[in-house]
Amino acid sequence: MHIVHIPATSANLGPGFDCLGLALDIWNHIRIEVSASFEPGLQFNASGEGTGLLNGSTDNLLTRSFLHLFEICGQKAPAAVKIFTENGIPLSSGLGSSAAAIVGGLAAANALLENPITETELLKVATALEGHPDNVAPALMGGLVASVCRGPEIIARRFDLPPLTLVIVKPEVDLPTKVARSVLPESVSRADAVFNIGRAVLVTEALRTGDLSLLAQVMEDKIHQPYRLKHIPGGEAAYLAAKSYGAAALSGAGPSIMAFVEASDAEKVKGLMMAAFGEAGVGCRAFVTHPSEKGVWTE
Ligand code: HSE
Repeated sequence: MHIVHIPATSANLGPGFDCLGLALDIWNHIRIEVSASFEPGLQFNASGEGTGLLNGSTDNLLTRSFLHLFEICGQKAPAAVKIFTENGIPLSSGLGSSAAAIVGGLAAANALLENPITETELLKVATALEGHPDNVAPALMGGLVASVCRGPEIIARRFDLPPLTLVIVKPEVDLPTKVARSVLPESVSRADAVFNIGRAVLVTEALRTGDLSLLAQVMEDKIHQPYRLKHIPGGEAAYLAAKSYGAAALSGAGPSIMAFVEASDAEKVKGLMMAAFGEAGVGCRAFVTHPSEKGVWTE
């Protein structure tokens, strides 16, 4: 039996569109059991977040990724396997649930095969499945990760972070990543590119050093957030409420909004952000959490 733990992730972090991502202390746990005494085939069961959507079929991102790794390795998948997942990461929230499913499925298969695939190769395979590296990289490596695609290769570097407090508010708004990507312009102006490039570097430095006042000055974006916030009722107001206390960003492709705050301000900021969604008639849930220095790990 193997148990695989995979963290939630928040991608983009304002200006680092498709390049920056942070592992969070919110987890999915996958248990894999193989036994000749089981019924042949793959059995799957989910508990926690997304149960209604995931149960009833064995075909999902996690099981597909699991089977994909056996294929890549030229190995047969086990004849009888049970996969249980206990999900703490909400689905379609901008908190990396699909990256967690992909990384979890790959890591589980890799563990069963006694780890023939290196972390660098796993990142490459996971990025090919996800389409961009910014969630799968921190889900694998933990901490803050900057990653880029260079042809077929993924270049990634991980940064340790000091303790930080994040408030994340997830509205009950349906904004699938596919839709959130389709509302973005095909090209951006040079001025907007320059605006983001410098800020992405400074956001990395602010997070790495825990400099919340620098972070509040530079966690801004001109290439995805303005287009996406329009599609999240109450999103603009919740974002501004978060920003009134410091640094804020859309988490991944949204719809969650997150704020980096002093621990003592967390409850106040959470209340303001939730009130902003409430005024727009949108229900929401909030998490107060921290970055995770650990990425996926297996026992
Ligand atoms: N970088 C991606 C996006 C993250 O913003 O579309 C979502 O998976």
